[in-house]
This record gives sequence, structure tokens and C-alpha cells, in this order.
Amino acid sequence: MLIDNTPSTTIWYDDKDSHVSIIDQRLLPHEYVVSKLQTFDDFCFAIKEMQVRGAPLIGVTAAYGLAIALRVDASISAEEDYAQKLIATRPTAMNLRWAIERIQKRISSCAENEKADLALAEAHQIRDKDIAICEQIGINGLSIIEELYQQKQRTINILTHCNAGWLATVDWGTALAPIYKAHFADIPIHVWVDETRPRNQGASLTAFELSEQGIDHTLITDNAGGHLMQHGMVDLCIVGSDRTASNGDVCNKVGTYLKALAAFDNQVPFYVALPTSTIDWDITDGIKEIPIEERDPYEVTHISGITDDGQVTSVKLVKDSKASNYSFDVTPAKLITALITEKAVVKAESSAIKLLNVSAETE
Ligand code: MRU
Repeated sequence: MLIDNTPSTTIWYDDKDSHVSIIDQRLLPHEYVVSKLQTFDDFCFAIKEMQVRGAPLIGVTAAYGLAIALRVDASISAEEDYAQKLIATRPTAMNLRWAIERIQKRISSCAENEKADLALAEAHQIRDKDIAICEQIGINGLSIIEELYQQKQRTINILTHCNAGWLATVDWGTALAPIYKAHFADIPIHVWVDETRPRNQGASLTAFELSEQGIDHTLITDNAGGHLMQHGMVDLCIVGSDRTASNGDVCNKVGTYLKALAAFDNQVPFYVALPTSTIDWDITDGIKEIPIEERDPYEVTHISGITDDGQVTSVKLVKDSKASNYSFDVTPAKLITALITEKAVVKAESSAIKLLNVSAETE
């Protein structure tokens, strides 16, 4: 996707000096800064502090983090320690554990001195595959938008929550991939962008992405979606997923559930776009079993932005009240029209999801 009309990805490896580069997303949209990740601690910091975020991108970053760490110590105990520390950085996103397990499986039977190189090769594969998977999600989701456009013959209004665009992946995104594909297919699109408190990934990342790509969009407060749906101003919703239970319940950025309820009440189709790597096959009840990350209340009591004289700053919203910061919620499968995956568009039901469970060896 584009930043300043230049094709970009969110993470890349530099062979010349053997480090990983990322876009520091904490600073967008006001500043574009590339950070180098060189040590294991750099990777943990980048994920925990959300220099990188979004389930697929967190997974890719963790994969590189483990590979780079193994250069320092590739003993079994160190490998396990690195793996556990990385998994603990963001507890909800499934791709983190998925990527780490994938690397560990790949290096499980090799000599200690070969582990780091093999792990790096696997991290490259995970990264490259993420791009292909997200593009395919875009292609699969495009047919849904095309069909709506055939029926309505006017601009299609799509509501999205948080950032499930290319900044949440390596390229293309998940929820935004069908939107990009529709835009490239000359289907007129308008996107309602939930600001997504407390960290405002909608305002600072999704709106930025869509602007850079030249796609018509409007930023709305998190509470506006229900009103828009009641008045026929939303044709469909597409959101991402951080972890999907095998029964079709979807865990995504907090507030997703409320949008799904409003969509259900107003017969607005509600789609979730996800790579199958977000499916947690061990979980059959998303509401009871998916761990919900709780972040620093500071993110709720404060808000950051840029002043008229160009200073990025943070201001306090409360006097001395306490705050809580549940970062994700779970949307029950019954509220979801369908899941848009790289393999197929399927109903959010155990029987349909089961068919997506092709083992890693055959992929
Ligand atoms: O806390 P974040 O910014 O990592 O949360 C991101 C989301 O909730 C996205 O919607 C989700 O990762 C799906 S994205 C491809």
C-alpha cells in the first residue's frame, strides 16, 4: 500500500546489516518514523508498546524476534524463555502464539548452531505468506461488495472498527483488503471509520491509510454507528479479528461487539475478515475462553494529538477518577453474517470453520 505515493510494507528485513525495520505506528499519522529492531528486548518493546500492532503484524514481528534472539542463545531453555516472553507481550492476539509455534516446530529437530538461520528463513516465509493471504482475503471479500454494488448501483457505505488495514498486517490488511480491491475495481466506496478509543487506531491509522490510498471516508465517534445503521447509511460492516474461536465467536478490538449488535438489530450484514491463523482450534466458546488483554488505564484517562503549532502531545481527560482498559471484546457467532478468510467465505459456525482446518503441512 502507499505512504506518500510510495509502496510500503510495515516490516522488512535488511540483509546488509541483519536487522528488522518497522514503521513506528505510535507516531502516525503525524510522523513517519522507521525504527530498527536489533535486540530481543527491542522486539518485546515494539509489540507491547504498540510500535507494531494488529494481530497478523504482531505475529510476524514475534517470528523475527525469536529468530534474532536465537543468534544470541539457541539452547532449548533460552528458546523456551524467548517464546514465552514474546507470547506474553500481547495476550489476546492469536497470531503471536501461532507464529512462535510455527518457528519452534521448524527448528525442533535441527542443531543448535543452525536454529537462528532456519528460524529467520521461517520468519521470512511467514511475512511473505501474510501478504499473499491478505490479498486473497481481499479477493474473496470483493465478491461480497461487488454483489451489493450490482443490487444498489450507488456508492457502497462500509463501516469498520479499529485498524484492520495494511498497517495491522504486512500489506493489504484484513478488513480493509476487500475495500482496497473494490476501490481498484472502480466500485464507488465510502468508509465510516470508528475512531476506536482509547488508542484511536481508527482515527490515526485507518483514516490515514484510506487518505493515502485516496479512498473516500468519514471519521465518526465510536457511538455513532448505531444511529447511522438505523438511518440506512451503512450497507455492510467489515471488521478484523484478533482471535477466532472454533465455534465462530470473534474477539476483536473493544467496541466491535456493540457494532455487531447494532448491525443485527438493523439487518446490516456484519462480516469479519481474518486469516485462518487467527483461529484458535482449542477454544470452542470465545466469550468464556479467550483471554482479554487489559492495558494501562493511562490510555483511557489521557488522549494524544497534535497542537495547532505542530506539537504531538497528550492531555488528561479526568480529574482523579480511576479507569479500566479492556482492550478487546467477543462478538458471538450468531451476530456474524460470515467470516471472510483467505480460503473461503464461510458461515461463523463450527461445521463450516472445521473445513478450514487444513494442516500446516499441506499449506
Ligand atoms: O490493539 P491492536 O491495535 O493490536 O488491535 C487491532 C485490532 O483489533 C484489529 O482489528 C485486529 O488485530 C484485526 S487486524 C488485522
